[in-house]
Amino acid sequence: MSALLELLKDGRFHSGQALGEILGISRSAVWKQLQLLEADLGLVIHKVRGRGYQLAAPIALLDAAEIARQSSEKTWLIQVHDSIDSTNAEALRSVERGSSIPLLVLAERQTSGRGRRGRKWTSPFAENIYYSLVLRIDGGMRQLEGLSLVVGLSVMRALRESGVPGAGLKWPNDVLVAQKKIAGILLELVGDPADVCHVVLGIGINVNMQTSEEVDQAWTSVRLESGKSVDRNQLIARLNDCLAFYLERHRLQGFSAIQKEWEESHLWQGCAVSLIAGASNIDGVVLGIDHRGALRLSVDGEEKVYSGGELSLRLRNDPE
Ligand code: ATP
Ligand code: BTN
Repeated sequence: MSALLELLKDGRFHSGQALGEILGISRSAVWKQLQLLEADLGLVIHKVRGRGYQLAAPIALLDAAEIARQSSEKTWLIQVHDSIDSTNAEALRSVERGSSIPLLVLAERQTSGRGRRGRKWTSPFAENIYYSLVLRIDGGMRQLEGLSLVVGLSVMRALRESGVPGAGLKWPNDVLVAQKKIAGILLELVGDPADVCHVVLGIGINVNMQTSEEVDQAWTSVRLESGKSVDRNQLIARLNDCLAFYLERHRLQGFSAIQKEWEESHLWQGCAVSLIAGASNIDGVVLGIDHRGALRLSVDGEEKVYSGGELSLRLRNDPE
């Protein structure tokens, strides 16, 4: 983290002279660095003659040691990056480098955060959670079945425990509050899924974000829902614990042990929906999910089952 940002993060005024003295640089060098912070990280810094510089709002940064201290799960290595293209991309590079696994990659911001189907995930500095957990899977397909739904359930639990009781699920792995997206999940896999492979569980949670000119769909954040600023380190520790719990249950008992709990939190259970599969749309009514996490739809009075990463659900009265 930039030493200048470390000094400013308390949200108080600091004079250019004092900052320069601590950092051992001139006042004009301080000024240049401040402009870089604003341009690179999108931070707003107030400049008041006679008082100095002040961040528009204090920021609490991610802290790997603090997350580890608060998590019951102690075996995952934790990396925190100030800025990275995508935590999922970095996690995949770690697998290639032969890094120790399980590994949790976190970042303050992403410059190319990715969503499903090549979409962009908006990832401003120090506001949200960008989280990628790398796991080794050596149990073949059974351990992958329904895995993205297990991650969605874990995220939902962590959010419900963190002041968002209305968080619920949308098949396959969106976490919504009412119809607004609060978290997105992107699983990426390397290796042979039928034998030994590595899977990256990529999770983006909107935490303290209050405005965004970029996001082009209905969204919300923990802060908008709870009315309070949220400690991201604490929320990450909760997420670690929820994930560790459900992943272990899934590993030992398979997805069928989680199916009922997932269905109970499905916001679109019984709803009239369109399933978008590439260029074709299938209209039906949601019956639920099966023991592998596939979607069960009633289509023209007949039960049909759908699975696959490229499928998307829309409510039928949705304007989209
Ligand atoms: P579906 O999985 O049903 O297609 P979706 O419409 O949310 O759901 P995704 O591909 O899962 O589509 O998510 C990517 C979309 O999420 C982007 O098109 C963008 O509109 C939106 N998005 C990007 N960043 C954020 C964010 N931080 N919070 C909420 N939504 C975001
Ligand atoms: C979606 O709903 O489309 C999935 C969004 C997934 C975003 C997360 S943020 C952390 C991880 N790194 C990425 O580049 N994407 C995932």
